[in-house]
Amino acid sequence: MFNVNKVREDFPILKREVHGKPLVYFDNAATSQTPQVVIDTIVDYYSNYNANIHRGVHTLSQEATDKYEEARIKIKRHFNAKEAYEIILTSGTTHAINMVASGFETLLSKGDELIVSALEHHSNIVPWQMLCEKTGASLKVIPMTDEGVLDMETYHKLLNESTKLVFCNHVSNALGTINPIEEIIEAAHKFNAAVLIDGAQATPHIKPDVQALDVDFYVASAHKLCGPTGVGLLYGKQEWLEKLPPYQGGGEMIATVSFKKTTYAGLPHKFEAGTPNICGGIAFGAALDYMNSVGFNEIAAYENELLVYATQQLEKIEGLKIYGTSANKTAVISFNVGAIHPYDIGAILDKLGIAVRTGHHCAQPIMDYYQIPGTVRASFSFYNTKEEIDVFVIALQRAVAMLA
Ligand code: ALA
Repeated sequence: MFNVNKVREDFPILKREVHGKPLVYFDNAATSQTPQVVIDTIVDYYSNYNANIHRGVHTLSQEATDKYEEARIKIKRHFNAKEAYEIILTSGTTHAINMVASGFETLLSKGDELIVSALEHHSNIVPWQMLCEKTGASLKVIPMTDEGVLDMETYHKLLNESTKLVFCNHVSNALGTINPIEEIIEAAHKFNAAVLIDGAQATPHIKPDVQALDVDFYVASAHKLCGPTGVGLLYGKQEWLEKLPPYQGGGEMIATVSFKKTTYAGLPHKFEAGTPNICGGIAFGAALDYMNSVGFNEIAAYENELLVYATQQLEKIEGLKIYGTSANKTAVISFNVGAIHPYDIGAILDKLGIAVRTGHHCAQPIMDYYQIPGTVRASFSFYNTKEEIDVFVIALQRAVAMLA
């Protein structure tokens, strides 16, 4: 039996009040909260072995290097990559996607086609549009349905010999839809197209196995996974990471430098120029340990209970419309009530201690599809409770009564 009260003890922030009310934190899809064990890891790093890595013979540098590389191995194991050097530590998902998009600049030419899904966050649209502008390649879109599900029949028709890359999120940040990435990857590979999966919203709920998926690139961020902001990963199959040129030049990514010719370091260092977020990387490893100790099967099952309960309660509110009604979704509910602007609801909820995200959620094409400016988004985590959902529903009813 999942013990939410015990889990809540791990998160000091859950004890705080906002505007004199107990915090109800339902903005987990933007950033998850941080357990004490991760906070302790950060404090330990700065208190005891803060130093630059891969550079020093001194003890502190060696300790920091060992911990950083241990974290890479934890990440490798978590995602089941074949090799630790297939894990590139980045500043987050956006950085990771830009690395791949920029790398493909030398591999694409006019006439090549890229396929994107209609459910993407801007970070998995804009870098590819920039790539198309530079290379003359074109971008095709897998459309979505009213339920917020991808139209897979059209996807299969879009694939052809010119398709070089397909990119899609594992889970939609705005709607919570879990996309059929296995089918997307398998179909793309029949045309020798590479596939990048944005796992930013999936990884808090699902433990992906990149080898079983046979995915070429998988990217995610630590701050959705109980880790700190400013760190994430790019998993890439070895052959792809070797094929792509480095993203940035600088220290640590070289083998030799002279004014005649510079040669690059091997993986993963080729993609890790400059001093990385050392503490963040180590804390990312600690966050994965923590999430695994809670258990991803337990997390998914409990969050689904919260999703079902919250959906039932919200559907009782007159005029409330939920966007994203896939049978296969994570614990995210995007909604509007009548013509009330989502921002107004969000502002009143905040006064009542409740944190939700409002707006277009960096996914304007989805909002355009529904012809709305945005939604209110409540996103749940394994440390939330049904009692918090009750508080949220009552607060929402109050807000609606004030605004309608
Ligand atoms: N991408 C994050 C979200 O969906 C910030 O809120």
